[in-house]
Amino acid sequence: MDLTIIVPTYNEGPNVVELLGRIGEVMTGRDFEVLFVDDSTDDTPAVVQAAAATTSFPVRLLHRDTATDGLGGAVLEGFAAARSPWCLVMDGDLQHPPETIPSLLDRAAVGDVDVVVASRYAAGGTSKGLADATRTTVSRASNLLTKAMFPRKLAGCSDPMTGFFLLNRDAIDIRALHPRGFKILLEVLARRQLRIAEVPFNFAPRHAGASKASFTQGIRFLTQLTMLRFGRMSAFALVGGFGAVANLVIMWGLMRLGVEYVVAAVIASEVTIIGNFLLLEYLVFADMRSESGLMRHRFLKSFTFNNAEALIRIPVMWLLVEGTHLSAVFAAALTLVAAFIVRFVFHALVVYAPRRSRAAAATRARQVVGQHADP
Ligand code: GDD
Ligand code: MN
Repeated sequence: MDLTIIVPTYNEGPNVVELLGRIGEVMTGRDFEVLFVDDSTDDTPAVVQAAAATTSFPVRLLHRDTATDGLGGAVLEGFAAARSPWCLVMDGDLQHPPETIPSLLDRAAVGDVDVVVASRYAAGGTSKGLADATRTTVSRASNLLTKAMFPRKLAGCSDPMTGFFLLNRDAIDIRALHPRGFKILLEVLARRQLRIAEVPFNFAPRHAGASKASFTQGIRFLTQLTMLRFGRMSAFALVGGFGAVANLVIMWGLMRLGVEYVVAAVIASEVTIIGNFLLLEYLVFADMRSESGLMRHRFLKSFTFNNAEALIRIPVMWLLVEGTHLSAVFAAALTLVAAFIVRFVFHALVVYAPRRSRAAAATRARQVVGQHADP
């Protein structure tokens, strides 16, 4: 097998037949396999299964029941399950025209690169298929921001956010990659200096169905950038900093309402403890959730830790205020900073410590179909 075409899908049923048909047309005479990594909640798996029976090339389906790592995780699973070193990743909604695949393969065949990126922003490419002016602006702006953050590694790439690329799996360390957010190519390129080539393509409108892009994905992307550039601790610090400010604002607000400062500090702490946990879950440690047991167990650990911390911190703050006549809010700020490092270590090493839960094991259970699906 020369090539694995990895197609991540989430409820893309109406696009499957058209996609496979057009792939078949442009790929005649080549030895390849199409691998759907599917997280759908609808009948997409059945549609793939039915279509797979009619194609002249092998089609495999890897259905994940309880995956929480989204598009990025699906692509990583695809790399791991591929039967060839060269993997082509493309969307299942035909925004990435199969007709571009041969030019990607031809470029890789020159033999001097690890990855060939299908770019909307290279000369000759277009991004007309982006839904609206907002999406276009967001795409352009995040492109600039990303390239500014990784000026050297992304020097050869005009579209690090594309989901359409051809990659030599042997050039990357799959296990070092984190499946966060939609932008898996960025994850690949930011980790290790790869030899990059580009081929322009026309980003088409969606064939059928609805986009899964969202505001949440946007926030995830910003977290991903922060973590790639500055590491997890800075993302944690960002969330912690936000929590600390929220904590002080709530405390100040309550004191203005006449609440006594110790009581105000307690209420402000509880509110921010819960808020921070949610931000850690969905942003900072999103890539570690699936392997670290149940959310309610993580919440219990995090909540207990933070309350124990507050139990120590609030008397310390009281001692500071009464003993040294610092202002209440300043004393609170001091103790919050001191607590930060301990909290990071506890969360990274205890709360999100990997351990396989039943749910994670179920994620690994998969279905395999296709007429050439023998391993
Ligand atoms: N397995 C799996 N799991 N697939 C997913 C998931 C998921 O949680 N979420 C989305 N997908 C699949 C979709 O079914 C589709 O095939 C592809 O990923 C892209 O999702 P869209 O919903 O079409 O997103 P988009 O068009 O906004 O984003 C695309 O364009 C971006 C550039 O603007 C993607 O190609 C991005 O990778 C690309 O960066
Ligand atoms: Mn799309």
